[in-house]
Amino acid sequence: DAGKGEFDHYMKKEIHSQPTALSNTIEGRVEDGEVSLEALPAGSFTDIEEVQFVACGTSYHAAVYGAQLLKSAGVRADVIRASEYESVAGPVDETTLTVAVTQSGETADTLSAVREAADRGARTLAVTNVVGSTAAREADDAVYIRAGPEVGVAATKTFSSQAVTLALVGQRIVADVPAADHPDDAEAMLESLADLPEQVESILETTDAERLAKRYIDSQSFFFIGNGLGHPVALEGALKFKEITYEHAEGFASGQLKHGPLALVTEQTPVFAVCTGGDDGKTKTNAIEAQTRGAPIVSVSPDDHPVVDAADAHLSVPDTHPVWTGLLANVQLQLVSYYAADLLDRPIDKPRNLAKSVTVE
Ligand code: G6P
Repeated sequence: DAGKGEFDHYMKKEIHSQPTALSNTIEGRVEDGEVSLEALPAGSFTDIEEVQFVACGTSYHAAVYGAQLLKSAGVRADVIRASEYESVAGPVDETTLTVAVTQSGETADTLSAVREAADRGARTLAVTNVVGSTAAREADDAVYIRAGPEVGVAATKTFSSQAVTLALVGQRIVADVPAADHPDDAEAMLESLADLPEQVESILETTDAERLAKRYIDSQSFFFIGNGLGHPVALEGALKFKEITYEHAEGFASGQLKHGPLALVTEQTPVFAVCTGGDDGKTKTNAIEAQTRGAPIVSVSPDDHPVVDAADAHLSVPDTHPVWTGLLANVQLQLVSYYAADLLDRPIDKPRNLAKSVTVE
């Protein structure tokens, strides 16, 4: 318990250590508007035509984030739940880069997927927090997220550091893959990354998450929606919420709400609408659809975002490049889950039936 310091739980400590973790993740990796990663020198990916991400749980959501960034830069990318790999991997050969995203580097499903990819001829890369882990040792290359040890079963700081690391690895890939278009605003995006640790700090100092958790704690189900880069954040928000509160929570792509989940929507189902300043039009219109059926809407977005006027409550996200906004929104959602679980008196650091690292398939 001594390791918790001033905090009641490791999870809260780890949420609060994100500014430091992110500074470590970034340190020395962006120079003169370019990404430099020791393990992956310029030219590393010139023969790669497709990138596949394999991961589980929270790492899967970080992988969805990373894959979207690559796709938006014109690189063929796919993200596969590691446990499904054998059935759905599709064609794999030496032009495939398979990226295992795994905090622990020991998740059995992820190790098995990346081994299968290597057997089929893919080049492999591990993006992990643990130096010398099985994934790091077995993959052709490894990039470390440098988040520091995470004790809470629910991953928090490692999601943020994974997503940033994947964005940096993505920039290296985009620079090398002949078919990619270097995004016009890549330099602005990398420049604004330097502000991310401070922006997380400002959320930690000003968050309204505890009050919101109290306001909605008696609801029946908790929904999280987002579009584009907001989608993996919505999925992660829901996963965190169900893991530690034991309440029913689901994350959806905003436009899918009307294709089924809307049947569940009542005044008892708050909808957290994650807006990143990217393609959010669908998030606002679908949030309003839910509101018309009585659901309270919580906007998780910059203050000047159009969704805020329509919302019943708001969690404020500092203005930054839209590539990073979702990671800041995620910090607000981590805090909502934490405070909700605390109000319900759950064993936050060790939720029932869950393990930090699942080493069986
Ligand atoms: C378990 C943990 C999750 C974690 C997942 C993947 O399910 O409870 O928090 O996201 O494993 O773990 P990894 O170490 O591969 O990122």
